[in-house]
Amino acid sequence: MAPTSRMLAKVGGRVTILGIHFKSEARMDSITLRVNGHDRQVAVPADTPLLWVLRDTLDLTGTKFGCGVGMCGACTVHLDGDAVRSCSTPVSEAVGKKITTIEGLSADSSHPLQLAWIAEDVPQCGYCQSGQIMQAAALLARKPHPSETEVLEAMNGNLCRCGTYQRIRRAIDRAAGGAR
Ligand code: FES
Ligand code: FES
Repeated sequence: MAPTSRMLAKVGGRVTILGIHFKSEARMDSITLRVNGHDRQVAVPADTPLLWVLRDTLDLTGTKFGCGVGMCGACTVHLDGDAVRSCSTPVSEAVGKKITTIEGLSADSSHPLQLAWIAEDVPQCGYCQSGQIMQAAALLARKPHPSETEVLEAMNGNLCRCGTYQRIRRAIDRAAGGAR
């Protein structure tokens, strides 16, 4: 079977096939990133996916690897407040921007969404949940009281194999100030 665009994604000089990364020999670059309020120095090729740098170099493993091709949302982080898929964002694109991961969303898990997630008992296996929260946090930062349609549109690309979608929506409603 020939690979389709869903199965095969190219990020810079690297290729991801079915979520497996194949590296070629690449030059290491010294890069400074602003992550969760701190400057972090890393030595990686500039086309390395941001997700790899966060997880493998900086040990910020709250951000998850799902599909590796921008299709599931498990790897969602913020760049200057915007939700992005870190699996398909070269680290070079994050230079000079504020990177926020789930570890930096709040100092003590007290972000309204984190509290609402606990109150609504949202997670099942939990794997997708940091991406879900980061996607929702970007929405509420931009739109504190989103309509149901706006929530559905914003969360549409974040998949949950456990099917926690109803609880996710209730938690977002709660964090936004109450049930509709
Ligand atoms: S792992 Fe990035 S979108 Fe799926
Ligand atoms: S809680 Fe299991 S994938 Fe979402």
